Amino acid sequence: MSAKIAPSMLSSDFANLAAEAQRMLDCGADWLHMDIMDGHFVPNLTIGAPVIQSLRKHTSAYLDCHLMVTNPLDYVEPLAKAGASGFTFHIEASRDNWDRVSKKVKESGMRVGVCLKPGTPVEEVFPLVDSGDVDLVLIMTVEPGFGGQKFMPETMSKVKALRSRYPSLDIEVDGGLGPSTIQQAADAGANCIVAGSSVFGAPDPAAVISLMRNSVQTAQAAH
Ligand code: DX5
Ligand code: ZN
Repeated sequence: MSAKIAPSMLSSDFANLAAEAQRMLDCGADWLHMDIMDGHFVPNLTIGAPVIQSLRKHTSAYLDCHLMVTNPLDYVEPLAKAGASGFTFHIEASRDNWDRVSKKVKESGMRVGVCLKPGTPVEEVFPLVDSGDVDLVLIMTVEPGFGGQKFMPETMSKVKALRSRYPSLDIEVDGGLGPSTIQQAADAGANCIVAGSSVFGAPDPAAVISLMRNSVQTAQAAH
């Protein structure tokens, strides 16, 4: 599986979203990570389908949507219509209906992602991945809700467990990733890297993106 570097647009200037998205693509971003928060599942409120729809008119880029919402099922149709590319929902919000959510996401033409908070054991996601309906697992490396938090190295054991069980699965990490933490994530087996503050806060975002891609590719070549 190829390395995907996904700047988190949560760290961008939302008032200039289309230009910020293009700036990241020009810097070498593979995906654009879109953090959708409902103010209930996490104590923060961001964007929803209308903003994805507006951005879609300005770019053909892969929009990697991370749903930090209490009812992911309600968001599938609106986001598919808006032009989302990937729909990653939290297992903590869908323990009783994950199979319905993943099937609906797949049927609507988006890629299916499942996300785990730092405290959720990795074994919880095995039945979903084994069902064959999941394209990506996102391991949160901070508590979801806000950018700019400190990377939690103890989450790497979950990435390692997933990588040894699923050699070709897309494994994404999100939170506190940047030049000082990328090596741990790459060595553990992550191939999709979300990074907000380390990219947007850098004097040379293209250099940070390229450094992170090199780390993933070098780690893959060594295994
Ligand atoms: C946090 C979001 C992240 C966030 C990452 O809940 O899911 O995508 O933007 O930001 P950094 O890279 O600054 O930790
Ligand atoms: Zn995110």
